[in-house]
Amino acid sequence: MTNPLASNARVLSGMRPTGRLHLGHYHGVLKNWIELQHAYQCFFFVADWHALTTDYEDPSGIPQASFDMVVDWLAAGINAGTATLFIQSRVPEHAELHLLLSMITPLGWLERVPSYKDQQERLREKDLATYGFLGYPLLQSADILIYRAGLVPVGEDQVAHVEITREVARRFNHIYGREPDFAAKAEVARRKMGKKNARMFDELRRRYQEQGDQESLNKARVLLEEQANITIGDRERLLGYLEGGGRVILPEPRPLLTKAAKMPGLDGQKMSKSYGNTIALRDDPAEVERKLRTMPTDPARVRRSDPGNPEVCPVWRFHQVYSNTEVRDWVAQGCRSAAIGCLECKQPVIDAVRAELTPIQARARELEREPEVVRAFINEGCEHARDVARDTMDEVRYAMSLRQG
Ligand code: TRP
Ligand code: SF4
Repeated sequence: MTNPLASNARVLSGMRPTGRLHLGHYHGVLKNWIELQHAYQCFFFVADWHALTTDYEDPSGIPQASFDMVVDWLAAGINAGTATLFIQSRVPEHAELHLLLSMITPLGWLERVPSYKDQQERLREKDLATYGFLGYPLLQSADILIYRAGLVPVGEDQVAHVEITREVARRFNHIYGREPDFAAKAEVARRKMGKKNARMFDELRRRYQEQGDQESLNKARVLLEEQANITIGDRERLLGYLEGGGRVILPEPRPLLTKAAKMPGLDGQKMSKSYGNTIALRDDPAEVERKLRTMPTDPARVRRSDPGNPEVCPVWRFHQVYSNTEVRDWVAQGCRSAAIGCLECKQPVIDAVRAELTPIQARARELEREPEVVRAFINEGCEHARDVARDTMDEVRYAMSLRQG
């Protein structure tokens, strides 16, 4: 397994093309991606095939929704020069890996994924008794494994999918990672590191295998990451050799849990398009103001003179995201003592949301004026992603005896 904490570890995450994004996406996902793109090699993609698993009856909106979503990613601060942005269906290797993984994936693993029955229940108006819908977590596994990603930033609801990905990878490596002459090949690879490093590797391997010393395992992984003289194949062999298994062709990823979305919706529930309680990143300032001014407050405050309780008020949740302690103290006291009115209370939030959105909207307008620039970013991203995916598929095909040499 590659060390997921190494700074060269890859990060991969995807989003279904839901069109224009809202503040929930921004605070829950995008701000996190923006931070990660500076620390890791990041791949972010539009999961358009995933959208088909539930919206197969009318896919006509998917291309526009994909484009709009990428515009919002870029406007929010995702940097197409730093991170690789692409569209899943433009890298057909995902489908090939999905197919090959399907050969070794027990049906029970898919049937037991919690979201399977849940979503079928929740989306009862759609017929989700399909093969594609059952296989959706495995398609997600292929998305992740094809980039040999070490870290997968996801919300709580997606952790089970990363878990099944780990199981599939383990099973794959177990079945296909054993070459007949594995030990001999590992020995050759070991010698390529040079005497000093090879000796250090032996010592760390011995300490890990004899005493289960995790620290030695980590050190040995770092040592392997640092070797410039060995091929990827050799590194995988040595990683397997280190842990006492076979070759690690598909490393196990780890979920990087994004903290539960801090961003409430206008009604206090989670912000979500399906609840109709969103502020879109591209809502114009007047619209933002209107939405915030009309959002519900503590129902106990019928008259201006009625005291309220911020704990039961969705506006208070916005203050927790946007306001400093000073403003929050002013709200808490002013609300409980009826010293301030609700509109007055909302004003700092209105100002803060508008200030947050101003630069995002300016960038979005620029991108909208030059859609060909956005398309060029996407094209480049797809090409780069495809190169990486092809390399993995070469190894996967070889391991599965689908290619000679
Ligand atoms: N299933 C994810 C969602 O619905 C999107 C997704 C698809 C994804 N493939 C992925 C996320 C791979 C992370 C990694 O939100
Ligand atoms: Fe909510 Fe502020 Fe009105 Fe209190 S004063 S009910 S916190 S909007």
